Amino acid sequence: MIQKKIAHNPLGAHVAVVGATGAVGREMLHCLEALKFPVREIDLLASKRSAGRVVDTPWGRKTIQTAQEFDFCGVDIALFSAGKDVSLELASRVVDAGALMIDNTSAFRRDSRWPLIVPEVNGHLIELKSGIIANPNCSTIQMVLALKALDDAVGIDDVRVVTYQSCSGAGQKGIDALLDETRMALEGKRSATSKVHARGIAFDVVPQIGALLDNGNTEEEEKMMFETRKILQREDLRVCATCVRVPVVRSHSEVVSLVTRKALSIEEAQAILDDMPGLRVTDIRQPGAYPTATQAENLFETLVGRVRRDPVDPNGLIFWIVSDNLLKGAALNAVQIACAAWNQE
Ligand SMILES: NC(=O)c1ccc[n+]([C@@H]2O[C@H](COP(=O)([O-])OP(=O)(O)OC[C@H]3O[C@@H](n4cnc5c(N)ncnc54)[C@H](OP(=O)(O)O)[C@@H]3O)[C@@H](O)[C@H]2O)c1
Repeated sequence: MIQKKIAHNPLGAHVAVVGATGAVGREMLHCLEALKFPVREIDLLASKRSAGRVVDTPWGRKTIQTAQEFDFCGVDIALFSAGKDVSLELASRVVDAGALMIDNTSAFRRDSRWPLIVPEVNGHLIELKSGIIANPNCSTIQMVLALKALDDAVGIDDVRVVTYQSCSGAGQKGIDALLDETRMALEGKRSATSKVHARGIAFDVVPQIGALLDNGNTEEEEKMMFETRKILQREDLRVCATCVRVPVVRSHSEVVSLVTRKALSIEEAQAILDDMPGLRVTDIRQPGAYPTATQAENLFETLVGRVRRDPVDPNGLIFWIVSDNLLKGAALNAVQIACAAWNQE
């Protein structure tokens, strides 16, 4: 794949949204509008199943086209959220056509040729060139915002995270499964299995997201550990993740424990986290005003609370962090990358 500089059209960009009918794709359209991304032309793409459907958008009525039959020539920025296989299938066509592919799937996150970006953390790596920029996993993005702030301020080591991830992390079908299974359970027909989640999710918590690997970790846990080191450029950072699916529709919550190289008071740690762009500590001088998953729904900010010292380590710090997985965890981060790339000229 040869990378070419994209010609910056002052009238705006030609954007293609691949996976436009999905949980993330729909939020991408919302974020493009909310961030006032200069859209000159937009194409909405999905599978054959949705082709021909007409959708009202802020840029007029658009007909969904089949991604595999679409010609990417003339597209400046292609936002992908149609699953790993679709990204792998279409990437060379997008890049060879001279477009920048911003990919929400796991297809290219481990590929050392392409950057893995959270704009507030490593946005300096963004370039307006054809090629690929990978968007990290939803649970990683919200955590690295906080890790970056603390690492820059005092240095961090030994990160342990436990996640409480919502069902929309598995897309629209993940939400539908939660609602269907809950309805069935209320009718006395609770199922131990699920068509989407690793186990029946109604009134339960499930410590498995993605396949279970031979080393005992799950795919989701491996993603969090690898991606955190790549984004922070801290190959030495020890990260241990446990990822859990919970019966929540939207927003992922996490408990993060880490060791700082200099001991911080709670007030100092709160101030460092609150100063980080994209983060807000909700309970400064207001104990009990910690955030929850439903409070974070539809917010662009990631919320932090319950910052406390770890009683078993003088340099240990623990906090709770919550973010809308469909926004900062996916669509918003991708559109922020698009904005930063386009504004570079
Ligand atoms: N949900 C999250 O929190 C989250 C966060 C970060 C990253 N991601 C990643 O983003 C991707 C999409 O997630 P989602 O939650 O939006 O899933 P989703 O709600 O299931 O939507 C999937 C989208 O992909 C399209 N699609 C599926 N198969 C296709 C094919 N063969 N060719 C073309 N288009 C196809 C679907 O189109 P049809 O309507 O035609 O089926 C739909 O638009 C996944 O790779 C996921 O891992 C999700």
